[in-house]
Amino acid sequence: MKSYSFWNKHSTLNTRSSEEKDFYFNKIKKLLKSRNAVMIAHYYTNPEIQALAEITGGCVSDSLEMARFGSIHPATTLLVAGVKFMGETAKILSPEKNVLMPTLEAQCSLDISCPIKEFSAFCDDHPDRTVVVYANTSAAVKARADWVVTSSIAVDLIEHLNYLGQKIIWAPDRNLGGYIKLKSNADIINWQGTCIVHNEFKTRGLKRLKNLYPNAAVIVHPESPQSIIELADVVGSTSQLINAAKKLPHKQLIVVTDRAIFYKMQQIVPDKELLEAPTAGEGATCRSCAHCPWMAMNNLKNISDSLEFGSSKYKINVDNELRKAALLPLNRMLNFAKTIKCNVKSNI
Ligand code: 13P
Ligand code: SF4
Repeated sequence: MKSYSFWNKHSTLNTRSSEEKDFYFNKIKKLLKSRNAVMIAHYYTNPEIQALAEITGGCVSDSLEMARFGSIHPATTLLVAGVKFMGETAKILSPEKNVLMPTLEAQCSLDISCPIKEFSAFCDDHPDRTVVVYANTSAAVKARADWVVTSSIAVDLIEHLNYLGQKIIWAPDRNLGGYIKLKSNADIINWQGTCIVHNEFKTRGLKRLKNLYPNAAVIVHPESPQSIIELADVVGSTSQLINAAKKLPHKQLIVVTDRAIFYKMQQIVPDKELLEAPTAGEGATCRSCAHCPWMAMNNLKNISDSLEFGSSKYKINVDNELRKAALLPLNRMLNFAKTIKCNVKSNI
């Protein structure tokens, strides 16, 4: 097992020398001003990107807050550091704004797992069901849905729809869908996508780590497999896990999500020991690193280039008809989020 201080010393998450970092920080700060732009970064981007977003008045958050922040910020350009669905969501909510991403190749395995043609046919086969999709989907899949949700409000929304007597199609994350079903008891049929990062956490390794640190709390993102969720003290979105790290009395925390979150989490709880949950199975020849390969494609150089050149290589465009259709379920999500208090979900 590895603690955060280990990663801080040896991490490959910060990729630049300090001279390069200073150079890009200064350049990007000037570009943000001259382009009337603001940075919106996810917790899974590299620590230097999160730090830059913070000191320039941008936002570092979970995907719900990224969407909300972009839609209300007065900047005319949004620089979204994350993966493509996050840039698309920003564009759908703010069509008048210029939405740039450091690379349009930063995908998401959940988004990829749910092609619109197959998904649409699946929905057509179940016309009696309300279609709820995770934010980690394409604009076309959102446009086919009745609701979009992020992990921070997924359980609350499905409980609400269940209360109204509605039967649900959930897509694309089968782990999150399984968790929601367990919590809400709703009638849900599940698409079978997974997150390639969270699906790699291993039960046996986690049990062993719990034995080594019997006083540690286990905090888990709900994209993880059911057997991992069963071992959790707290299950929640990235923001909810950071809140839980603060609120829990435990001095040690086993963190079951992308390790880039450790940067922000350790800032919030400097006195606590953060332990990385194991990802490799017994005898594995390849060790996955608990870091999203697409989030890792964002770096200071391509952020600087995207702001400097602003060309189609960096620009998010969404077809206007698709955009209008996807806006409805996205706005439903934002309005629903306003009506609930997004408390940390605990499964104990
Ligand atoms: P959050 O909404 O919890 O930030 O999750 C987004 C994501 O892609 C997690 O893998
Ligand atoms: Fe998608 Fe998983 Fe990466 Fe999140 S961590 S963006 S769900 S592949």
